[in-house]
Formats: sequence, structure tokens, C-alpha cells
Amino acid sequence: MSHPHTPAFRVALSTGGGDAPGLNAVIRAAVLSALNRGWECYGIRDGFAGILSPKDYPNGGVIHLTRDTVRGITSLGGTIIGTTNRGHPMHYPTVGPDGKVTERDRLDELVNGLGAYGIDALVSIGGDGSMEIAGALARKGVRVVGVPKTIDNDLDGTVSTFGFDTAVAFATDCLDRLISTAQAHQRVMVVEVMGRYAGWIALHAGIAGSAHAILIPEVPFSIEKVAEKIRRREDDGRYFSIIVVAEGAKPAGGSVSVLEHETGRAERLGGIGDKVAHALQTLIGRETRLVVLGHLLRGGSPTTFDRLLALRFGAAAIRAIDEGQSGIMVALNPPLVNYVPLEEATSRMKYVPIDCDTMLTARDMDICFGDE
Ligand code: F6P
Repeated sequence: MSHPHTPAFRVALSTGGGDAPGLNAVIRAAVLSALNRGWECYGIRDGFAGILSPKDYPNGGVIHLTRDTVRGITSLGGTIIGTTNRGHPMHYPTVGPDGKVTERDRLDELVNGLGAYGIDALVSIGGDGSMEIAGALARKGVRVVGVPKTIDNDLDGTVSTFGFDTAVAFATDCLDRLISTAQAHQRVMVVEVMGRYAGWIALHAGIAGSAHAILIPEVPFSIEKVAEKIRRREDDGRYFSIIVVAEGAKPAGGSVSVLEHETGRAERLGGIGDKVAHALQTLIGRETRLVVLGHLLRGGSPTTFDRLLALRFGAAAIRAIDEGQSGIMVALNPPLVNYVPLEEATSRMKYVPIDCDTMLTARDMDICFGDE
């Protein structure tokens, strides 16, 4: 694509939103695929902050990515270019002279900033927020391809996102460890997991980790039903129980538990595990302990599945750019990685279908969802 007398084609990468294991694998595959085409590669620091808040980056908000910078990073969690879930360019948090934080639309500044760096194409790696930004940039004429990432698995248009398998594997390992201590002490263990408004992590880890009840946002629960399940186990002589609670789970007729509302970012969920644990201890009269897995689910080395998916996504994004595509997201459509319009990924969230075979598997195995 490049010619000795013309500047090399420049592709920039951005990682946005909560980090997920596999981000570095995407970066490595994308950078190597681009360099092998004779292109230059750049990484925008912390979402788009490297361009929108250059003063915060005395050593440069946009860094050159070379073979050396991406060596040995496939197995690393996090992202070597940084991320943020506070820097949505269309709702950019800005501190006023009175110290009050308001949101500003800085999309045009971002478009101009990309132009000033001579960026010819952008790979935007992230969740629903990053895909929304990518769509808006595409409508402004920026050549952009999205790469879906989230441990929550709630992005539509792709069968899976990398990060999810790693999070589920870790949560399952934690449940295996908690069962032995629950059994030894004859306790109820309540385990709260992330996932935002979808119950994918709770459902998959809960079934694989032999939980006795799984509470997910898609099935509003009655705490009395969960208590009944524990009592039935006790009637059978089993004096311990494992209850997995998704952070977005809510009681029937109630609402999600929110830890914090903050200008310029999504609300922070959490606290439902504590409520469930207290209520069960009161109802059952048995010692109950709460474990919140929280950000542990986002750490560690990606599983083989997530590594391979992330590498495939990174290389596919560069192939799409090479083919002249824009306004699309790479997606897993087994056995293929293909492309879907960005709108398809952002028009709705992917929730657990309450009649899917995974849910039926759980119900057939008498796992309680707190609804019957
Ligand atoms: O979307 C990924 C995720 O880990 C969610 O599961 C969770 O609700 C949220 O991010 C937590 O965000 P933060 O890193 O701001 O605490």
C-alpha cells in the first residue's frame, strides 16, 4: 500500500471502557498485520484522552507502536495503551471554574485531532460505548473498524466477546474453592459477580461451578424462593449452599443496586450481594458470607479461547481496513469471524434469553433462579 515517495498509511488503535483480558492480544495482532502491510501503527492513550487531553500526556498522547512494543504481550491482561470509562468524546467530562463537572460533545475535536496526526484509519476496541463512538466517527467520515470487547458478553452482533471466557473460568475456579469451605463450615456463601445488566457471567460460572441458586437481571427474584431452596437442601441433610448473584440482579418489583452515579460515565452497579446475604442469614438463621469477585474478573492472562479470538479480531480488523471497509465491527459468527454494521452492535444489549438451553439446563438440574 505504501510507496517510497508517499507517506506510509497510518492506522491508530484505541482501547476504551473497562479492560478485559485479550486487549493486548488484539493490539499485537493488529500491529503486526499492519506493519506487515508496510503501514505505520499508533496507539492513542487511555481511550481518546491522548488526543482530547494532550496536556495530561507530557510524553505524548499518541504513541508509536512497533514490533518491539507488542513483543510478548499476547498473554498479558490490561492494555499497553491504557483505557478509561470516563472519556466518551460525546459526553466528555469537563471541570468548570466552579469545580462542577459537566459533559461536553468533543467529537469534532477528535476528528480534527486524528487528522492532525495524519491517521488514515482507526481501530476502536471496546464495548458498547466504544462501538457507539466508532459509529459516530464513521458518520463524520473517519475510516473506522470496531473490535468488540467485554467480560460481560452483552454486545449484540457477535456470538462472543473476548474477556468473557477468562472471567467465567476464573469465577468458576472461585466457586470450586468456595464450595469446600462452605461445606466445611456449613455456611451459605453468596458470590457477587460483574456483568452489568446481563447475567451471562453469573449463569455460565454458576452452572459450571455447581451453584445452588443463580440470580440474574433477566429473572427478577424473590428472596423467599431462594430461602426455600436452601431449606429444601437442609431437609435433605445438606447444610451449605452456594448462591451466585449478578451485580445487576434485582428483586421482583425492585430495582438494581447502584453504588455510584457520576457525570460522564455509566452508573456503577454493586451491593446486591450484600443485601442477598443479609436477607438469607435472617431468613435461614445460618451463617452467611459474602464474596464480591469484582475487578478480579477483569484481571489475569486470557484463556486460550480469548487469546485466539482476540488475535483473530485484531487481524480481521486490519484486513477490513485494507479492503476499504468502514463503519463495521468484527464479530464472531462460528466458525467464522465476519463483519457486522456498527449499528447492529449498538442498537440493543444482548441479554440472556430466559428460554435458552443453558437456562433450561440449569432448571433441569434444579438450580434455583429465585422465581419458582
Ligand atoms: O463492563 C465491564 C465491567 O467490569 C462491568 O462488569 C462492571 O459493571 C463495570 O465494568 C465496572 O466498571 P469500573 O471499572 O468503572 O468499576
